[in-house]
Amino acid sequence: MDRNYNLGIIGATGAVGQELIHFIHERNFPCAQIRLFASARSAGKKIEYMGKSWTVEEARPESFCDLDLAIFSAGGSTSKKLAPEAVERGCLVIDNSSAFRMDPKVPLVVPEINAQASTQHEGIIANPNCTTIVALMGLYPLHRAFGLKRFFAATYQAVSGTGAAAIYELEEQVKAWALGNSVSPEVYPHPIAFNLLPHVDAFLENGYTKEEMKMQNESRKIMKLAGIQASTTCVRVPVFRAHSVVINAEFNAPVDLDVARQAITDFSGSELVDEPENGQYPMPIDFAEKEKCGVGRMRRDLVFENGITLWVVGDQLWKGAALNAIQIVEWMHENGHLKVMPKLI
Ligand code: A2P
Repeated sequence: MDRNYNLGIIGATGAVGQELIHFIHERNFPCAQIRLFASARSAGKKIEYMGKSWTVEEARPESFCDLDLAIFSAGGSTSKKLAPEAVERGCLVIDNSSAFRMDPKVPLVVPEINAQASTQHEGIIANPNCTTIVALMGLYPLHRAFGLKRFFAATYQAVSGTGAAAIYELEEQVKAWALGNSVSPEVYPHPIAFNLLPHVDAFLENGYTKEEMKMQNESRKIMKLAGIQASTTCVRVPVFRAHSVVINAEFNAPVDLDVARQAITDFSGSELVDEPENGQYPMPIDFAEKEKCGVGRMRRDLVFENGITLWVVGDQLWKGAALNAIQIVEWMHENGHLKVMPKLI
């Protein structure tokens, strides 16, 4: 713990950016300097946290000259444009967007599962999709116990996954409804208050959305299970924070529910909440601003022979994004893989 890094947060005014500022302070990540970046629209804006104040800067290629480490959470197009500029300037990038996740040269890391993969980077490390991370906090311990073969998933995704503007949109629609008014949707194609949208991210030719395909593709890469199949339906729900996923998983080995529950309990990323007879199961309201993901409703699947059905809930701004990114850099720092890079430009 003797190094101090110059760290930049790109997208610092956004929903994930704000949580990154929180975790860097709360977990005492060793920083000599923290700089906050966003679009030109936010340049000059002040951000305050725990008595400290920063002036937001516009993210530009030159911004990375003095940085060792940059955590991007400003959308795919910003990452595509600026992450290579950062790497060129000797700065390690942790990218929250989907821009580089499936690039074979870019590690896709969930520290509880494949921390070691982060050592194989060429300047960019990708943070997986938020729903995929939350699902794997339930699936991965079961995979270790029984060997995952394939799964179905249906998601219930909070608006904070879309960003700060979507949180505001839900608030405004709820307030308008209470007053008997209506407001036109702007972030989503339809009203989100008191509604469900079976539409997260863009539709593809196969009828699935990009978000739905991420669950299969990213799970394969993170768990090194090239052949597993996953069929997912992603739904946006009027919940402010924390995603939920129901998973029907089939395993290679016969399953035992006691062993399965113990595997969840023993896994550092998850917490077992599974007493349905007492009304105890994970809910978004309880897992918002919680580091672990909740797993419950575990039961034998009625379709798959070696199958378990489970319900996983996790704060997608935390474990699904900001916390996972911080855990990656913490693991690299603690294991001597985080370097103060020589400056090339
Ligand atoms: P800004 O507030 O200036 O628009 P969210 O996911 O909550 O919508 O946040 C997106 C984040 O990405 C915000 O901090 C936003 O900054 C930032 N952002 C959007 N476009 C750019 C850009 N071209 N360059 C840098 N940051 C950007």
